[in-house]
Parts: sequence; C-alpha cells; structure tokens
Amino acid sequence: MRYDLQSMFDITGEVAVVTGASRGIGREIAMAMASLGAKVVLVSVSAMHLFKTVSDLQDQGFDVIGIPADTTKKDSIQAMADQVFQQFGKIDILINCAGVAHLENAIDFEEAMWNWVMEVNLKGTFLTCQAIGKYMVKQGKGRIVNLSSVLGLKGRAQDMAYSPSKAGMNQLTKSLAIEWAKDNINVNAVAPTFTQADAERGLLGDKAMYEKILSRIPKGRLCEMEWIVGPVIFLCSPCAEFVTGHILYVDGGWTVS
Ligand SMILES: NC(=O)c1ccc[n+]([C@@H]2O[C@H](COP(=O)([O-])OP(=O)(O)OC[C@H]3O[C@@H](n4cnc5c(N)ncnc54)[C@H](O)[C@@H]3O)[C@@H](O)[C@H]2O)c1
Repeated sequence: MRYDLQSMFDITGEVAVVTGASRGIGREIAMAMASLGAKVVLVSVSAMHLFKTVSDLQDQGFDVIGIPADTTKKDSIQAMADQVFQQFGKIDILINCAGVAHLENAIDFEEAMWNWVMEVNLKGTFLTCQAIGKYMVKQGKGRIVNLSSVLGLKGRAQDMAYSPSKAGMNQLTKSLAIEWAKDNINVNAVAPTFTQADAERGLLGDKAMYEKILSRIPKGRLCEMEWIVGPVIFLCSPCAEFVTGHILYVDGGWTVS
C-alpha cells in the first residue's frame, strides 16, 4: 500500500480548539479528541461551567485546558486565539460548537432574541474562524469544522433565527473553504439532527412534537453524541485531506427524504 491507513486517522499531538465546550456536543468532541492524543483547548462564555468541565476532564487524565471567551466579541476571541498560539506554537484544529437557539411565533419574535441567536451562531462562528484562521494561514495548515444543523436546510415553524443562522453558517463554510483552499485549510460543517440528549433534557417539546420529529427521520431514531463525534474527527484527520466546503448531514436520512 502507498499509504499508512492508521496514520490517516491520527490526530496525536494536534492542537485543537473547541468552542461551546463547557457542555453538550462540544464537551463530548473535546473529550474524544483528547482521548485520541490531541491537546485540546475548551472555550466557553460561561467561565464557571467551563472550569468545572475542564477540571472533570483533567481528573480523568485528559490533556485539556480551558480559556473563557465570548465568541461574539472580537477582542475576547482574538485574545483566546493569541493565548493558544503563544502556549502551543500552533493551532491545527478548530471546532465551532458554540451555539444558542430560541423558538417563538414569528409575530412575537423579539428583535433582541433574533440578534442574540444570529450573533452567537453566525457572527461568532465567523469571528472565531477569523481569529484562528490568521494563525492557520501563517502556518499553511488547518482544519475547521462548524456545527451546523439539519435546520440549516429544512425550515421549522417558530424557528425564525436558528434555522437562518445555520443556513448562513453553511454558506460561510463554503466561502471560507474556497478562500483558504490555497492555504491548506479545510473548512467543513457537520449538520446533525436532534439528539437523544436533547430529548432527555426535555428540549423537544411534548410527545406529539417528539413523534413528529421522529417521523421525519427515516432511521426512526434520534442522534446519539458519538454519531456526531465520529464525523467531526474524520473531517479533522488526514484522511479528509480532499474534503472541503462540505456540509455533512448526520440526520438518519432526514434531509434526503
Ligand atoms: N443538540 C442538538 O440536537 C443539535 C443538533 C444540531 C446542531 N446542534 C448544534 O451543535 C452545537 C452544540 O449544541 P449543544 O446541544 O451541545 O449546545 P449546548 O447548549 O449544550 O452548549 C452550547 C455551548 O455554547 C456555549 N456558548 C453559548 N454562547 C457562547 C458565546 N457567545 N461564546 C462562547 N461560548 C458560547 C455555551 O456556554 C455552551 O458551552 C450548537 O451550535 C447547536 O446549534 C445541536
């Protein structure tokens, strides 16, 4: 064989920044990357929750640190990127997981809530790509994965900001992929459907809503965390060298049905 299959999935020693990592999908991705030998920087706006998560992971033996930062504030996110580069001398991987949602009827949807969702999900993702992209362009190497959603493609009643923000994120992913292809930076998105963890947190509404969501998923199940983690790691690993500008749906077939 001309290539070493094992090294194609190897991210040992890579420096990875994961935003929105104090909980949920971001925490899970950070833990998985650390278990594969990456040096992982967890970022979140909520310092108290972040340091609790970081200390839990360190207690389990994971090589992680935490830096509180607000992705919607240019100075805050640039200071985080500068600190990571000063400490490790490189930044190989960025996972944009920071995200928020708000559901409300269109007529009652408040401007402040619309701004908040768009700021975190779309502007925050751009500012983080920009802050870390500066270092990736200089080093001539990088992998970025944005956490999008099936709702970036599909509409949903009451979803006046989240769905448009994820659609914007998909387009941002494609534009950055084109601009930075020459700099050896791959930019992709992973777009999951609703997770089982969301259902357990009571975020999917009543039983009728839960059944409606399930009926849209040909595989008839909600998404488990590990089914998101795997595709994210694939996109960060050497075997995804030629995959860029792609929106990878992790949706049990929802978006093709
Ligand atoms: N959970 C799902 O079913 C699902 C499905 C599709 C897509 N997604 C996307 O995946 C991502 C993670 O989802 P989750 O369910 O784990 O979310 P979550 O609500 O559990 O966690 C969100 C994280 O983002 C952080 N955050 C929020 N605003 C921030 C800011 N301004 N700066 C820095 N950090 C900030 C929070 O502190 C938290 O750590 C989101 O972008 C979400 O839209 C989630």
